[in-house]
This record gives sequence, structure tokens and C-alpha cells, in this order.
Amino acid sequence: MKMTSFRSLHLPCLLLFTTGLACLPIAAQSRPVPNPQLASKELNARVDALLKKMTLDEKVGQLAQFSAGYASGPGASNLKYDELAAKGQVGSMLSVVGAEATNHYQHLAVEKTRLHIPILFGLDVIHGHRTIFPVPLALAASWDPAAVETVARFGAVEARADGIPWVFSPMVDIARDPRWGRIIESSGEDPYLGSAMARAWVKAYQQDDLSKPDSVAVSVKHFAAYGGAIAGRDYNAVDMGELSLRQVYLEPYRAAVEAGAATLMSSFNTINGTPASANSFTLTQILRKEWGFDGFVVSDWGAVAELMNHAIGDGPTVARRALEAGVDMDMEGNLYGTVIASQVRSGKIPESVVDEAVRRILRVKFALGLFEHPYTAEGPAYDATPERRAAARKVASETFVLLKNEPVEGVGALLPLTAKAKKVALIGPLADDQRNLLGAWVVTGNPKYVVTLRSALAERLGDRLIYAPGCELLSGEDANVLKRVNFSGPSADDAHLPIPDDAKTIAEAVEAAKQADVAILALGESTNWMEGEAASRATLGFTGAQQQLLEAVVATGKPVILVVLAGRPLELKWAASHVPAILEAWSPGIEAGHAVADVLFGDVNPSGKLPASLPRAVGQEPLYYAQLPTGRPAHGDLSHVPHNAAEKFMSRYLDEENSALYPFGWGLSYTRFSYAQPTISRNEIPVRELLASRTKPVTTVGVDVKNTGSVAGTEVVQLYLRNTAASVSQPVRELKGFARVTLAPGETKHVEFPLGFDELNFYNAEIRRTVEPTTYKIWVGGSSLATAETSLQVVE
Ligand code: NOJ
Repeated sequence: MKMTSFRSLHLPCLLLFTTGLACLPIAAQSRPVPNPQLASKELNARVDALLKKMTLDEKVGQLAQFSAGYASGPGASNLKYDELAAKGQVGSMLSVVGAEATNHYQHLAVEKTRLHIPILFGLDVIHGHRTIFPVPLALAASWDPAAVETVARFGAVEARADGIPWVFSPMVDIARDPRWGRIIESSGEDPYLGSAMARAWVKAYQQDDLSKPDSVAVSVKHFAAYGGAIAGRDYNAVDMGELSLRQVYLEPYRAAVEAGAATLMSSFNTINGTPASANSFTLTQILRKEWGFDGFVVSDWGAVAELMNHAIGDGPTVARRALEAGVDMDMEGNLYGTVIASQVRSGKIPESVVDEAVRRILRVKFALGLFEHPYTAEGPAYDATPERRAAARKVASETFVLLKNEPVEGVGALLPLTAKAKKVALIGPLADDQRNLLGAWVVTGNPKYVVTLRSALAERLGDRLIYAPGCELLSGEDANVLKRVNFSGPSADDAHLPIPDDAKTIAEAVEAAKQADVAILALGESTNWMEGEAASRATLGFTGAQQQLLEAVVATGKPVILVVLAGRPLELKWAASHVPAILEAWSPGIEAGHAVADVLFGDVNPSGKLPASLPRAVGQEPLYYAQLPTGRPAHGDLSHVPHNAAEKFMSRYLDEENSALYPFGWGLSYTRFSYAQPTISRNEIPVRELLASRTKPVTTVGVDVKNTGSVAGTEVVQLYLRNTAASVSQPVRELKGFARVTLAPGETKHVEFPLGFDELNFYNAEIRRTVEPTTYKIWVGGSSLATAETSLQVVE
């Protein structure tokens, strides 16, 4: 089994060897063409011909995007969208959904305007459109790009049927701090896994051909480094060195652009002092000049106008700065539409800057075939058909991570559930909840389609199932949280929220547990209120009385299985030492209950692996495995080794281990896997050969993986490496390969990971991707704690 699929397709650094190991400055390299469709001569000729006919006002109209949908931004109440569309002042709309609504505006734009330029409709299609799949963090936990492709294909087909040819997905921000609620929308902490997922999203949405009737253009977001928000507080500043920016935070963007992404969305944050939405370094130097991006950049919602809050100028100034930096379209800011044309007329902004932005937007409209097919045919109403449900169920069950499954005395391992469990108590506020299992980004998803845990377990257990909610997700003291988290702000009803009687409902749950052989607790977070955008938390424990409920049920002495339903890593330290079985099930989407039941009963053997480290304490955040070494490593470089209490002047906490409670890549199975000693086809490579190899692998690491248990299972085999002697300090471990391998009981498979420049390079102090003579330590295994080891020498 050869694993080649995740290697990037282009080498960004063309190498020259006149003076030894030099790598040409990026600006001097030939420009890559990541999306041939957008670069095509014919398409650009059409764009230029149209551009020549356009007046300045018509051009500026193309730069404006309005939300006439479920939410409207600054000044929106005074806007008359029909009039604007008929005057050619609407380049794009968001949150207008359905054939009827989109056609309404499209007719105005196409039929009433002089040049008949269609509107581009965009929408947040994030983890499915109408068929809601697990949240992106969960999808990353599958370590299965094919699962992401399934979600993207269903999303694209359903979005097109609703008149939407442009999706604000994928979100490829690296998220290393679960206080940040948007970790739910990300692929987690790792640039290699994140890049593999980014490629899968882009390729499946766009199918390398935007003109296909079931392709959608992506908007890769939020460019850039939005996930690096200080202290995990949403919209906060990002301060990081260029090495981390490039080697970690920008990598998934580079992958997405190389995969042909048609558009990007600029982010709300500042990057080292310069707002990302007015940042010519990221938007022009890196994105356009280095990566060759030919698509367009839309701002995030109101981000251009918010530049005034960043205090870098008044309205006209910030609009000019954003446009000149490379933000082509103003999302729901209504600023470009009002202050750009006058600045062009007064000579403050060269018209060529506007032309370039319009050109980029028109390229995407032409490539999508909108000029030929501007309208959407009315179709039948959405139905969660068996085919859609089967796909959602299969994908969801692949995303669950079995964190722990320790045998209980006299019972054995609790999972998978067997017939021995005659009576099962299902307890918890998420056990019979539809909305909160759907996830955070479900603009058009409908909770009514969600199969709850209670109904799925009842299908299997009938009256052997006892149910007790146990408590609410939030209790009386959390009322303020609830007020803050409501999407549209505090409502009049908040003041009258009933204060739940937790003591009573917990007592009922304890009674239910006592009557059962095993208790399943479904605890977590509200994905509706507490995850996603503007949902940062300073604590990571269970909300409301859930922890109390858990402790009370555990105190009954009945065996407990904890199912965690949350879109961020929660602090599970107490549970990890008191609960024998823990399944991380995230926010699974419409087939939540069935998928959880499939895994609990062993119809599906869990195979998910953590895409983000689970902390022992919130104070460890941001916590991630690929840390840089320190000069004072507590117990060597492997931070998972427990601390020696006698060590004082070491990089460690006094009151907690450095390591994760459950590390990146972690996940158990109902079977066991063993790893043989890895081999390497060549263990010594001259550096010149490596530099010359470009995207070609120069050596291969092979390992035999065996299923030593008694049931079939899928293992995510992971390869990590460490560059032990670079000119710039490198992380203690970095993921550089992974493969999902399914093994029958007793079966062994040989897995191979090709390594070449793509896997071995790093950015040196001159900000160039390079390799140097060094030794790479290489580990292969089932998590970031992998121990089966080999090495590779790169020699002069
Ligand atoms: C703001 C969010 O940050 C972004 O992810 C989303 O795509 C836009 N709003 C549009 O809804």
C-alpha cells in the first residue's frame, strides 16, 4: 500500500544550484498557475472585452456584496436591493437561498442592466447544505479526505439546486486553542492534516472545472492566521513571527490555492499590527505574487468597514487601503460602493486598481458559466432521502474518537455494548436533542431531520432503554452566558428563562442509572449557542450542572460510558480518571443517533483520531504537539513523559503536566494494532539530490501493521519526523504522512510513506523553503506518541 495522495502537487520553490544549496528568492521564480481555467486566454479575453465596456460605476458595482437574507449588516435597513440589482450595483449577494429568491434578483441584474452581468450568490455551506454532516473538526478526526469529499459533493449539488454557485468553505485556519469557538469549523491544530483536508474540500467542490453544473467555487477562509487569535478570543489580534506564519498557519491556504481555489475570504484579525483585510504582504505578495492566485478575495462580513475600528483611517482611507492591498469584494460593508468611485475620480485611487479587482471577480463569474446559465431551475423540495442519510451516517461514524475503553472489574470492556447490558440508562441534556447535534454552521439545515441518540438507541433496545435528561446544558448561574450567546443578542424572553431544578433532575437520572446495567451519558456543549463564531470561552469544562450529573451517576457504581458531543476539545480530566469508556462524538449532524449507536454496538469499529490535543487544564492552551523545543526540556523532548518532581528550572508547569490528556492523533479501536520496526529504502541522501528532486520522493519509509485483535478494524497509520539539526529550530515532531488501513483479525499490511523535499523542507531564517544536511528521526504509529523509529541522514 503506497501513500502518495497527500503530497502537494507543486513545489513552490524552484531551485538553482549554481552556488551549492541556494534556493532562488521566491519573487524571482516563474509564476505558478494553480487554476488553469482562471488563467485561460479565452476567458481573460472575454473578461477584458467586457471590462472595456464598463463605466466606473458599473465596475464599482461588481465590488459590492450584500446580504439580503437572514441577517443584514451595517446600514442594510436603508438599502433597496431590487433597485441596486437593477442598477448594476450588486456584484454579489449572500444569504439569498433557493431558486425563487436567487432568480428574483438575477432577473433584475441580467435583464434590467446595460451589460447583463449576473450576480454571484454565495452562502455559508460548511458541513453540508441541506443534508448536514458532522462539523469540520469532526471530519478532520476521520483523517479521511474521502469523507470530506463526500460532504463537499453533497453540499455542492444541494447548494446549486438552491441557486448557490459559491460556498464560503473550506475554513482552513489552523486552530491550536479550543477557547476559540471557531475551532469547530477547522481541521484542528496541524498544517499537514489541515492541508490534506483543504485539498480534498477544494477539489471536491470545484472538480477542477467550475463550469460543471454541479461544481461550486470555494471561498477559502479566513485569510490569514485568523486561528492565531491571542488567548483564543475571537477577532483578537494575531502576533507571530513569519516562520510560524508560513510554516504553520499559511500552509493549508497554500495547499488550497495550489488545488485551484477560486476565491479566498480575508479575515477580521490583525497580523503583526496590519489588519489582514488591508494587508498587502499576505494578499498581494504571498497570495498573488508567490502563489500565483488568479481568483478574487472577498472580505469577511463588514471587515473593510471594521478597519476603521482598527484605527488605520477613516472610511474612504480604509476602503482604499483594503482595495489596494488586494480585497476585491466588500462583504456587507457597503463601503466600496459608496467611497471608491469618488476617489478614482479625484485621482486618489488609480482606475487600474479597480479594473484589476473587477477582472478577478468577472473571471470567476465567467468560469462558473453564470453568463450562459444565470438562473436556477425550480426543483422538488428537499428531502433527507435514504441515500443522503446513509452517507451522513457512514461519514459520522468515521469521525468518532474512542478516547478510552478500560475494562471494568467483573464486566470487561464496556464497549462495544453487548447483550449483557440488559437495561441501558441514557442520560444527559444531549441525549434527546436535535438542534445541538446538528452543529454550528447550519444556515439551511433543519434540526427536524436529526435522529437523536434516544430514538436510535430505542430502535435497538426498545423498553430496555431508560431515559433521563439529567440536567439542562446551562443552569441558572449561566443565564448571562445564554444572553451573550444568543445569535441576535439578548431577547426579552431571556429574563424569564426558567431556572432548571438540577437537583431534582440529577436525582431522577441517578435513579435511572441504578435501574440499569450500564449508563450512557450524552454530555457536551450547545453547538447552537456556544460554538462557532463569537463563541470563545475562558473555561473548557462541561457547562451547567453536567459535571455534577456525571459525578452523581458515576457515584452509583454503575459502569458509565461517556459520549462527548462538542465542537471543541473540552477539559475531560475528571472523566478520564473516573469513567471507564469515553467516546468523542463531536457534533455529528442529521444521522447523529444512528452513527453513535453503530459505534456503541460495534457495528462500526471506531477509527477516528484526534485532530487537536485534548488538554488537562485550560491553562495549557494553546496546546499542540508540534511544539518547538526549549533549552530546558522537562524530561527530554517528548512532553508526554511524566514530570520528575525534583526538576526545577525546566520548561514546565508546577501544578500540571505539560502533556495533553489525550494527544493529537490519539484514538482507540475495538481491536489492537501492532507496528513492526519501520524500514527505510535509502537512509542516506545527498542534500543536492533532495533539492533537485522537487516533488519526487527520494526515499520510502515502510512499516508492517498488524491487527492483533479479534475483530476487523481501521487504523490511521501516522508518520512523524523531527529535523534534529536545522539552522532554525524545528518542532519536536511533525506529522508528514498518514494512511487509513483496514485490517481483518490477524491480518498484516505493509504501508509505505514516500518522503522527499515536500515532507523534509522547512523555512530558513531567510524565509526560504530549503533542506540542509541533518538527521531526521522518524516515527510511525497510531498517534503523535508513536515509538516505532527509524532515521534518515541528509548529507553534504
Ligand atoms: C462571518 C464569518 O466569519 C464567515 O466565516 C462567514 O463566511 C461570513 N460571516 C458570511 O456569513
